Amino acid sequence: MLAGKRIILGVTGGIAAYKAVYLLRDFQKAGAEVRVTMTPSATRFVGSETFAALSRSEVAVEVFNDEKPGKNWTKHIHWGEWADLFVIAPCTANTLSKIVHGQSDNMLTSTLLAARCPVLICPTMDGEMYESPAVSKNLTTVQEMGYHLLEPDEGYLASGLEAVGRLPEPETILKKSAEIIKTHRIQGPLTGKKVIVTAGPTREFIDPVRFISNPSSGKMGVAMADAARALGADVMLLHGPVSVPIPDRLPTREFTSAEDLFELMKSYTDADVVIMAAAVADYKPISRSDQKIKKDRTDESSSIELTRTPDILANLGKNKKKHQTFIGFAMETENLIENAKSKLEKKNLDWICANSLNTRGSGFAGDTNTIHLLGKDDHKEFSGKKSEIAFEILDEIFGDH
Ligand code: CTP
Repeated sequence: MLAGKRIILGVTGGIAAYKAVYLLRDFQKAGAEVRVTMTPSATRFVGSETFAALSRSEVAVEVFNDEKPGKNWTKHIHWGEWADLFVIAPCTANTLSKIVHGQSDNMLTSTLLAARCPVLICPTMDGEMYESPAVSKNLTTVQEMGYHLLEPDEGYLASGLEAVGRLPEPETILKKSAEIIKTHRIQGPLTGKKVIVTAGPTREFIDPVRFISNPSSGKMGVAMADAARALGADVMLLHGPVSVPIPDRLPTREFTSAEDLFELMKSYTDADVVIMAAAVADYKPISRSDQKIKKDRTDESSSIELTRTPDILANLGKNKKKHQTFIGFAMETENLIENAKSKLEKKNLDWICANSLNTRGSGFAGDTNTIHLLGKDDHKEFSGKKSEIAFEILDEIFGDH
């Protein structure tokens, strides 16, 4: 359950901070990718270098970057978006109180406010503190706020007392984390659906320094993937060399050529939904030169012989299963509706998003688009920001109307 999951481990300033080192290792052994954020007082118990070395990643303590002011100060937002689960272990009474009051005075508490994932809080403190009225009230409140809580164990504490307050063993925390991930779902019309989205251009290399491609930025495909995720889907974004940032929250795999994408898609033939927004080259050079083609070794005029690439969507369409919905894209310069409708039929698609290079505000790299969503008997038009119409299109197809 934890394999491939992205976990933020928040470490606060209690003696049990040293146990968080073992927890980090165990999360990694279970296949999770872990980033660590520590409160400044946690660094008095365990050095941030220990977590940095083990997580092979920077350990975030402060929101602001004193060495390079202004640089990367929105990291807490990106980390918050990136995570599938946020585990605070150990969580002191002080951090617990900050969580209840929505304080954001360090990287850990700021990232927590930005996080959209489920959160597991593992409070640890001395028995007397744990049973104090303020802590008891805060423990009830965090649960009411929707956070998950793992009660501390009873046993020998650093104060020498035997009481409730020990951090549970890593295996208990791992088990609880797996349960949370298993049951957590963004609720929406695509909840429980595996959705594959392709985005961006392909590159068909002629020689090591030249290729045939197109101006696709990948913006529309990335917007479709993000919208599908927000509607509850389990998304995988396959992308070519895009020129837009991809949000951390999206799991991705990369391709370069049409052939690469064709091979990648073989792993996802059972997806519930395929959204094919990639601008796939229809032709590639028959052969690729191993060395750079030199001008002085070729004639004044020269030609490249091309051969067809596989039509990925048409191939998928041939073996479409009942539970599957295929959505294609068509960028046209003439006869928009007619050409798109013919692709819808030929490739056995359920829907096609047709856009014209000649419509104002549409096209490859811009922020806006006009899309004609064509189904077998439907035709709806959507205009506006790519990020917004992506939602509208998916809501039109999968929403409860
Ligand atoms: N497509 C694909 N494999 C290809 C070419 C295109 O899967 N080799 C997909 C695209 O991702 C898109 C749809 O098919 O979702 C239509 O692509 P488009 O390039 O508009 O159509 P083509 O079938 O290539 O026809 P033409 O280039 O002649 O317009």
